[in-house]
Amino acid sequence: MARVLVTRPLPPGSLEPLEGHDITILDPWAAGSSALAEVVRDLAPEAIVCTLNDRIDAGVIDAGTTGRGRPGRQVLGRQVLGQQVQGQQVQGDGSRLRVVANVAVGYDNIDVAAASARGVLVCNTPGVLDETTADLAFALILAASRRTSEAEADLRAGRWGGWALDGYLGRDVHGATLGLVGFGRTARAVARRARGFSMEVLHHSRTATGVAGYMADLDSMLAISDIVSLHVPLSIETHHIIDTRRLAVMKPSAVLVNTSRGPVVDEAALADALAEGRIFAAGLDVYENEPAIHPRLLAAPHTVLLPHMGSASTATRTAMARMAAEGAADALAGRPPAHLLR
Ligand code: GLV
Repeated sequence: MARVLVTRPLPPGSLEPLEGHDITILDPWAAGSSALAEVVRDLAPEAIVCTLNDRIDAGVIDAGTTGRGRPGRQVLGRQVLGQQVQGQQVQGDGSRLRVVANVAVGYDNIDVAAASARGVLVCNTPGVLDETTADLAFALILAASRRTSEAEADLRAGRWGGWALDGYLGRDVHGATLGLVGFGRTARAVARRARGFSMEVLHHSRTATGVAGYMADLDSMLAISDIVSLHVPLSIETHHIIDTRRLAVMKPSAVLVNTSRGPVVDEAALADALAEGRIFAAGLDVYENEPAIHPRLLAAPHTVLLPHMGSASTATRTAMARMAAEGAADALAGRPPAHLLR
């Protein structure tokens, strides 16, 4: 039996693969990585199951691999498969962190290099959230193009004076040219939906895909796309991939949608482009400094803003949590997790 730290409550049943292990669930978890490092040092877990808003940096990894578990310290709350035992005393026994399982496909919250250097496995949850995230990307494509958020806000606030020929004029989605930045599983799922809307689908990725619609030059694709949807992981290369210059390359009638990671867009530049009418609209689910939202984005016209909910269906979040638990259980049993990151 190994000690497992789960950084927040997960959907019912999703921790079954870890049954038999000593599971501590932090509830609620809203602290930064230095506080998490403290908990990890105290608890000395062999596995951590975390979510994308837990920063698993070198400090946390070090705490798990060099900390020895200080006897008699309190953790925030303790739950062993459903039984809450508040303020339980934990006893360190010198065990060592072996695996970090992220309940997310994106893993920019984890310093994988630091983990690998210390022999800690890292795994994620690819494949189970693509369709659900593509649904939400399409919801943003439709909502931003057709201005549904501002129209509904007017209606609710009593500002709607009745049908008008020129009321809430937006951009057509059907027949539009869609430019996908990145062409992984979620982008392909968006492309499948786009075909049902008679859209022309283009895509750009670092390596040629061999699929019709591939454009090696990102700027050329941005220049001819009516709608641009971002599907790249966050990395040094993709940070601010959409910046002032690329926004200027886009059509003034263009709609930008982001369901990947906030920092791939320069939010200040996007807010300026929207305010000055240099692009038509934006639909965002992710932000540079979540949960803070850039104040100029909040004020920008033609903007649909959602609270990072791309994979938020009950079925998908349960599948993600279970997959992460399976990864942790595999590592604890000495088997390589199915979705190991290096
Ligand atoms: C969600 O944003 C994920 O990366 O799983």
